[in-house]
Amino acid sequence: PLVSMTEMLNKAKEEKYAVGQFNLNNLEFTQAILQAAEEEKSPVILGVSEGAARYMGGFKFVVKMVEALMEEYGTTVPVAIHLDHGSSFEACAKAIDAGFTSVMIDGSHFPLDENIELTKKVVELAHIFGVSVEAELGRIGGQEDDLSVDDADASYAIPEECDRLVRETGVDCFAPALGSVHGPYKGEPNLGFDRMEEVMNLTGVPLVLHGGTGIPTKDIQRAISLGTAKINVNTENQISSAKAVREVLAADAEMYDPRKYLGPAREAIKETVIGKMREFGSSGKA
Ligand code: G3H
Ligand code: ZN
Repeated sequence: PLVSMTEMLNKAKEEKYAVGQFNLNNLEFTQAILQAAEEEKSPVILGVSEGAARYMGGFKFVVKMVEALMEEYGTTVPVAIHLDHGSSFEACAKAIDAGFTSVMIDGSHFPLDENIELTKKVVELAHIFGVSVEAELGRIGGQEDDLSVDDADASYAIPEECDRLVRETGVDCFAPALGSVHGPYKGEPNLGFDRMEEVMNLTGVPLVLHGGTGIPTKDIQRAISLGTAKINVNTENQISSAKAVREVLAADAEMYDPRKYLGPAREAIKETVIGKMREFGSSGKA
């Protein structure tokens, strides 16, 4: 069933595993992720950025597509449709109106007071409809869709500010930027685990790790032990699907049927997602 993130993340935090947020880019991504979740008996979060929603046909279309596939597949595991890096109150309101069960309001580029004010407004609206809310503090480096943060502007969240934001806004989960990066890492990631522990102890809410692509398993496990209950992955699925398409097309210069190259892409995404679900410990938890 379609649900908010609240219950699945509280359970994950308690039982020390993380639920994956896998971003949707098109139909094949959606099919692959839903199939992986059902096969693994894992809860799952479908992340939809504003750019990806625009590409696919809008928020309403995405909700209808997900609902139709879930009906077709007879999905039994909990599924959340989550606005990823929502850029404004209006975007969050539109997503909620379209049937999203969860939204992120990303006010991380604003001064703290403004971020708190904006996040609070979104929480007030979302909670009327039983929709969960994620907020962010500090700045995650790298690039994702419309969002691009230079290395120099990337910054670590300050635990006291995180505490204030979570307390004053009532968000359901929280993403402190602690050195993770959107897109591939240049070298090994350098995650701020000391601060992560502080943020966990101060806020008590499930924590979110963005930029899940390319983080070593030992860091994933450590993050989970420090209260991380949601890990976002997009680039890794994009890389594995692009690789599959390249291989198929390179092997046959005469091929033109999209089902013959997007089918293998879909399989590659499904395999990647299954691997993540096992690594995050969410398999068998639905
Ligand atoms: O919000 C989405 C994620 O943070 C994706 O990060 O593309 O580096 O896996 P990634
Ligand atoms: Zn992100």
